[in-house]
Amino acid sequence: MKAVITGSGFESAEWGEVAAEHSVTPVLGEPSSRILEIKSGQDSFFWLRRHGEQGELAPHRINYRANIQALAELGVTQIISVNSVGGISAGFDAGVLAIPDQIIDLTWGRESSFYDGDYLPLKHIDFTNPYNQQLSEALKQSSGELGLSFASPATFACTQGPRLETAAEIKALASLGADIVGMTAMPEAALARELDITYAAICPVINAAAGLTEGLLDEAEMRAQAAVMIDSVQKLIQKSLLNLAAQ
Ligand code: HPA
Repeated sequence: MKAVITGSGFESAEWGEVAAEHSVTPVLGEPSSRILEIKSGQDSFFWLRRHGEQGELAPHRINYRANIQALAELGVTQIISVNSVGGISAGFDAGVLAIPDQIIDLTWGRESSFYDGDYLPLKHIDFTNPYNQQLSEALKQSSGELGLSFASPATFACTQGPRLETAAEIKALASLGADIVGMTAMPEAALARELDITYAAICPVINAAAGLTEGLLDEAEMRAQAAVMIDSVQKLIQKSLLNLAAQ
């Protein structure tokens, strides 16, 4: 079974027929939202809203472990994640869909492992390639088929938030090799890997990162850019799910 986890600006996505609604409460707590089962062709997928149903949950307050555990309990083996991001390097302008292959994790204080020695005994998973290559390829192929402009590979710098970055932080992230910056790639991607769930992401670039444009960052403008991109993100997800089902 597949799942889609969407981020801020994508709470109001209309997917079509809801086949079922699941309220799962795993031992590690409440997931961010109800999990809706959406009909997609002959298939269906689960949809979870990472920031809650109204987008009210801050990135550092999300119970990422509960989210991933809930999906695992429903039998999910593949996750397509949507994370809105700011663009840092050339080719990652607002309006582009980035499909990342790497992560630099700068988050702190988040419950970031199932294998923390309390819930499960300590274990160090391999995370050399944080995103699943095959699933990422399926996203790229589907983007191509839909004529959407995507940018890949991409290194995702994950910051703590909820504040946006300083201009100097973005300069530093650029020199570290980051192409895009967002707040929710981690620990989600690592938790999925810990449970052997295949995970890949679509990252709509909704603004130029701090200090890279003349003005200051404006949340309303970022939301407006996300709204413009909802349609293509949804089409891409639906096409990818169809292509994956046919594989
Ligand atoms: N920085 C961090 N997270 C983001 C940004 C950004 O510029 N845009 C969207 N999410």
